[in-house]
Amino acid sequence: MSEKKVLVAPSILSADFSKLAEEIKSVERAGADWLHVDVMDGVFVPNITIGPLIIKAVRPLSRMFFDVHLMIDEPVKFVDEFTEAGSDLITFHVEACKDPMGSVKKIKEKGKKAGVSIKPGTDVSALDGILEQVDMVLVMTVEPGFAGQAFMEEMMEKVRDIRPRFKGLIEVDGGINVETAPKAIKAGADVLVAGTAVFGQKDYAKAIREIRMA
Ligand code: DX5
Ligand code: ZN
Repeated sequence: MSEKKVLVAPSILSADFSKLAEEIKSVERAGADWLHVDVMDGVFVPNITIGPLIIKAVRPLSRMFFDVHLMIDEPVKFVDEFTEAGSDLITFHVEACKDPMGSVKKIKEKGKKAGVSIKPGTDVSALDGILEQVDMVLVMTVEPGFAGQAFMEEMMEKVRDIRPRFKGLIEVDGGINVETAPKAIKAGADVLVAGTAVFGQKDYAKAIREIRMA
């Protein structure tokens, strides 16, 4: 287990959007494994961020794997737009759709990886039946909507529960930093999303290295 490489996915939500292109190139150069893109619609979460247009615009700037986290209502309606914009993996919230399996199917049909996410208040049983169909499970460690919130350590119980019965990747998102990363890794997480802990630092390479080594 200790040999397993932990992936670090900086979230552009905490980047300086007035120079987004430079920020993306900087984290790539700094050793980021994935780029985490937080999409919010102001309905599923109380915030609005970016859509497919921005993803499409920045896609050619980087070779990083685009990890797109949809915090939008009825995500199935926008799968075409987000895949065509250049997403590699699309994660949606199980709480946001009437037919989660239909969303997975649509993402897979488009030839992309599919992930499913649960909010802090959602029990792991909400993933029953869908776990076998997805490439990744995203366990939220803050209430989705904003960067810079405190890590909810209790959520590690969900990671420990899912780990032995899921072959795919487990991602954790929210409040990851050098102090909390080891807790997530120990519980069994493979991918660590970090917004503030990367973009809030001067030296992105150092920040990423420290989180990965934590
Ligand atoms: C929250 C987003 C997170 C957030 C993480 O809704 O899904 O990806 O940007 O930011 P930090 O790392 O600052 O908690
Ligand atoms: Zn996210």
